[in-house]
Amino acid sequence: MDRLIVADHTEVIVGEGWPRPLLPPREDRRQVALLTQPEPTSRAIELAGLLREDGLRTEVIGLPDRDEAKTLEVAATVYQALAGSRLTAQDTIIGFGGGAVTDLAGFVAGTWMRGVEAVHFPTTFLAAIDAAIGGKTGVNIGGKNLVGLFWHPTRVVIDLNVLETLPPELVREGMAEAYKAGLVGDPALAALLSDDPEPDTREVVLRALLVKKRLVDLDPRDRGERAFLNFGHTIGHALEYASTLSHGESVALGMVAAARVSEMVAGFPDRRTVTSTIERLGLPTTVPGVDGARVRDLVGRDKKRDHSGTRMVLLKEIGDPFLTHVGPDEVEAGLSAIGL
Ligand SMILES: NC(=O)c1ccc[n+]([C@@H]2O[C@H](COP(=O)([O-])OP(=O)(O)OC[C@H]3O[C@@H](n4cnc5c(N)ncnc54)[C@H](O)[C@@H]3O)[C@@H](O)[C@H]2O)c1
Ligand SMILES: [Zn+2]
Repeated sequence: MDRLIVADHTEVIVGEGWPRPLLPPREDRRQVALLTQPEPTSRAIELAGLLREDGLRTEVIGLPDRDEAKTLEVAATVYQALAGSRLTAQDTIIGFGGGAVTDLAGFVAGTWMRGVEAVHFPTTFLAAIDAAIGGKTGVNIGGKNLVGLFWHPTRVVIDLNVLETLPPELVREGMAEAYKAGLVGDPALAALLSDDPEPDTREVVLRALLVKKRLVDLDPRDRGERAFLNFGHTIGHALEYASTLSHGESVALGMVAAARVSEMVAGFPDRRTVTSTIERLGLPTTVPGVDGARVRDLVGRDKKRDHSGTRMVLLKEIGDPFLTHVGPDEVEAGLSAIGL
């Protein structure tokens, strides 16, 4: 198993299956609450069985699927369950599922009794390389993640066997974020995804994790360099809101657009490589049937919040990102590169 430490606090374990002991050793822990979502529930119940064998009282709490779980109402239901089972400040909350589960579990852990230990078992590619790591938690109130806190888990367990058996659309979601990690922080990872038709899952996961680790360690509160992880997300988020495209598909398109803007602003030489890699990963590079006016409006809202223009992460070269403001002509060039 491979191990790395993020933000001096989180032990990330990557391997096939689960480590022993399952949780960071601690004498005073008596019980755990295991939060999960519909798809990975049977695996979560298996884990609960092992935790009980280890002598821990274990309650499995099922959450609604996807972002339906990330609300204050759902958090309140979980608090009631924790009160019912008398989960104390010495106990542990486990998030077992995709990013929606780890975001909500982290939020509940950070607020229950003013903060109890969180441990995550991400079961999607995106959660493994992105959401479960770095301590950002939150619920949606109107906008996404408007209420939340930084709460680092003590351990994140990435079971490669689970990632190997994901449905193809969830693999593509993860690959979009892995390619993003390569573009902003690891040219070898970007090249691996460009050149290798069947890249090794362990290598992709470890390399993407190392990029995230480096940026989180540099900028734990997300005030500076960590913003590089938003490459592709300015236009990506607007597309996600304006359409039925998934997050990964939206980010893929956002990266094609950002590569075009990077070419225009900073002479980025590899726009074609970015586009062809995204295509090869099975992700879209042009948007059919999305309301362009609505996307422009959403990107423009960003601009109103910040009078200097639209904030975007761009690339000088693969592995060399910078944060800047761009004007309407650059945004238009980006949008036209994806057919809007
Ligand atoms: N905190 C952060 O830094 C951060 C970063 C990126 C994304 N996020 C958040 O993460 C969420 C998206 O994460 P996600 O894509 O993992 O979403 P998700 O949790 O909504 O899961 C997506 C779907 O996959 C299913 N699923 C989970 N595990 C599975 C498995 N092993 N096999 C088959 N299906 C499975 C889920 O039931 C769900 O239907 C969003 O809420 C986003 O805001 C947070
Ligand atoms: Zn993302």
